[in-house]
Amino acid sequence: MAAPEEHDSPTEASQPIVEEEETKTFKDLGVTDVLCEACDQLGWTKPTKIQIEAIPLALQGRDIIGLAETGSGKTGAFALPILNALLETPQRLFALVLTPTRELAFQISEQFEALGSSIGVQSAVIVGGIDSMSQSLALAKKPHIIIATPGRLIDHLENTKGFNLRALKYLVMDEADRILNMDFETEVDKILKVIPRDRKTFLFSATMTKKVQKLQRAALKNPVKCAVSSKYQTVEKLQQYYIFIPSKFKDTYLVYILNELAGNSFMIFCSTCNNTQRTALLLRNLGFTAIPLHGQMSQSKRLGSLNKFKAKESSILLATDVASRGLDIPHVDVVVNFDIPTHSKDYIHRVGRTARAGRSGKAITFVTQYDVELFQRIEHLIGKKLPGFPTQDDEVMMLTERVAEAQRFARMELREHGEKKKRSREDAGDNDDTEGAIGVRNKVAGGKMKKRKGR
Ligand SMILES: Nc1ncnc2c1ncn2[C@@H]1O[C@H](COP(=O)(O)OP(=O)(O)OP(=O)(O)O)[C@@H](O)[C@H]1O
Ligand SMILES: [Mg+2]
Repeated sequence: MAAPEEHDSPTEASQPIVEEEETKTFKDLGVTDVLCEACDQLGWTKPTKIQIEAIPLALQGRDIIGLAETGSGKTGAFALPILNALLETPQRLFALVLTPTRELAFQISEQFEALGSSIGVQSAVIVGGIDSMSQSLALAKKPHIIIATPGRLIDHLENTKGFNLRALKYLVMDEADRILNMDFETEVDKILKVIPRDRKTFLFSATMTKKVQKLQRAALKNPVKCAVSSKYQTVEKLQQYYIFIPSKFKDTYLVYILNELAGNSFMIFCSTCNNTQRTALLLRNLGFTAIPLHGQMSQSKRLGSLNKFKAKESSILLATDVASRGLDIPHVDVVVNFDIPTHSKDYIHRVGRTARAGRSGKAITFVTQYDVELFQRIEHLIGKKLPGFPTQDDEVMMLTERVAEAQRFARMELREHGEKKKRSREDAGDNDDTEGAIGVRNKVAGGKMKKRKGR
């Protein structure tokens, strides 16, 4: 690693008195009137804890390490001070927000637009998987805010004529511990080299690395740490359960739970693209409106799935960890860890897709004979022993035959789909990849398992 960049250990923000906290308004924090109105229009009647802590310090020009639980308004905590500063000294290419996933970049951009629409803020989303040319055009218009995934931003920094970030005033790393992780190391280092040292830097996440070395890479200057949760905390209103079952009955138990909790919206996490796809096909064969979201889908399909789920056209989203961080879909009632997360930190982010902004929610983690150690690690990390989710095993076993049939069809569909994909790649290099298997699905007899509400 290069010699440490200038970096001081963060000072801790002083804890405000609780009664004071409850009566604070955005205006009290120093946010300008027009942005207070924008908050009001979004229904943000008062600032959240992390906003109370971080906004005044950010407005004073401090670098910030912001740690607060999932769904607690961290986006607003960095977007408001940036917009406030932009109003004071208007400038193009003013701020850059780095995020680990494409969907999250779009979401953050929507938040900036919602808060900044009345002041004419323009933002551009620069992510992989979509047409680079239209992004170059968007950059040529010099937006105020760029929200980007690191890889595609580098492409533009290297190849798009006339585009540079030499005047940048703010850098945000959302999901900072992920961005500062090894996977993004080269990209982030390249970006840091071409933006001014004299800038403000904000790091935000629900889980933060303690490794000073990693934080040093962000080249913070005299940062202040705003932590309103302990390092690895899940939300109070989240009911968390585990379910201990033999690996071979995972599918059957999943179907049982979906029936038991019918009427809810589910996010179900799987460990691989393949299992995400397979499980989505399986559930569809059983009459559930399930859709997949994973990295082997084209970007337009990924966004299509997400939008369907957001619009409640589908009540079950099956996803890999590409959807575990940052996504804000308020109506998610239940998170299922169908495959246990291998990195315990991912558990916190995954279950944080429900019980957001003071709502309640449930999380159920499947633990098989192979997962005991990983599960204990998770319990240790969050400092809690979780209760078992109650199940009627005789009822579960009654589902086995139907599930076995659907499994067979799902396997066939996956195979068919794989071959089709290979053929079309040979033909046209198309990466069309999720909807090819409807034919077989329609052949499955019956359809619905039980009468279900709201699917
Ligand atoms: N002051 C506020 N009052 C009410 N709702 C708010 C406020 N600030 C933000 N929200 C809402 O809370 C929800 C969660 O916010 P956000 O996505 O910023 O959470 P987060 O802390 O970034 O979570 P994660 O760790 O999962 O990324 C959003 O729907 C947002 O609109
Ligand atoms: Mg967030």
